[in-house]
Amino acid sequence: MTLRFRDLLALEPLSADELTFLLDQSRPFQTIQRNPLKKLATLRGKTVALAFFENSTRTRISFATAASRLGADTMNLQAEASSLKKGESLLDTVQTLNAMKPDCLVMRHASSGAADFVARHLDIPVINAGDGTHEHPSQGLLDALTIRDRLGTIENLNVTILGDLQHSRVARSNIHLLGKFGCRFTLCGPAMWVPQELEEIGAPGVSIRRVFRLEEALEDADVVLVLRVQTERMHEPSISNEDYVLGYQLNAERLRRAKPNALVLHPGPMNRGSEITPEVADGPQSCVLEQVTNGIAVRMALLFLLISGPAEDSAHPVANSAEESQPPRNRRSTDKKDLSHASD
Ligand code: NCD
Repeated sequence: MTLRFRDLLALEPLSADELTFLLDQSRPFQTIQRNPLKKLATLRGKTVALAFFENSTRTRISFATAASRLGADTMNLQAEASSLKKGESLLDTVQTLNAMKPDCLVMRHASSGAADFVARHLDIPVINAGDGTHEHPSQGLLDALTIRDRLGTIENLNVTILGDLQHSRVARSNIHLLGKFGCRFTLCGPAMWVPQELEEIGAPGVSIRRVFRLEEALEDADVVLVLRVQTERMHEPSISNEDYVLGYQLNAERLRRAKPNALVLHPGPMNRGSEITPEVADGPQSCVLEQVTNGIAVRMALLFLLISGPAEDSAHPVANSAEESQPPRNRRSTDKKDLSHASD
């Protein structure tokens, strides 16, 4: 199949076929996570620049680990210690990084649209690792991969999303992905975090309803996505932790309203005792740690596809690439907007 994009900035513009392709490409990299020897040589000689202008632990480590397991080197920009603090513009910072000749830029920024802006100015692939309240595409993909592994499908599911929907890029990426597969969404949280405009964010025909009673929102759910209470992004009017717990915390008793095998997802970092109880976070329905493991597989697939292009023959890089093997030829199209793939 042919991917229409050079960068991964958002899931919204991608088709169901393209999303399925990305999920399928992640699968062999999942297998690698179970091997005692996890390192490939597929991207040996390549460099991935990581520019996180907003705090991140797991996403940054996940991309860095994905790059390293593909044999690539990383360049790491720490926003706290960078020249941004000295007044350098975002564009100057990323152009400086780009002048050091990385093969891909992974970036996170507090402003929605920042990754898109940067991608328009650079000639290397850009992966959005979270931009403001807009999207977090690799998180959407790893969530979908986790659901598909556990339930066998991502089609026609009832997905309940709990918390601060308004400020959640994770919720948006999940809706843009799962909505293309016929999933129906119930959004639940304090009214000021679940504004009416959210009903319009999916593609035409995607069912999104808002429900303000948690018990009702959980009814018949196949998947419950719990969002972190984002104190750093909270705007007035806010809600006290006590009231949030009373109204919206996912606990074992409330979870019984969902389908018996409903999955519980959380992108992390979790505030145990706030949006979720330890009993649920550590319970059999929780997928939290699988999400983290799958995050590396998804990010390996993304880095591989965007930097090298996929294998044209039957050999997937995972199948024949051990530490000592040769990296595949760089099959990247000269036209950067047209990354062609052989069908698989
Ligand atoms: C999410 C993020 O930063 O958007 N976390 C993550 O990437 N693992 C969610 C959050 O911080 O609440």
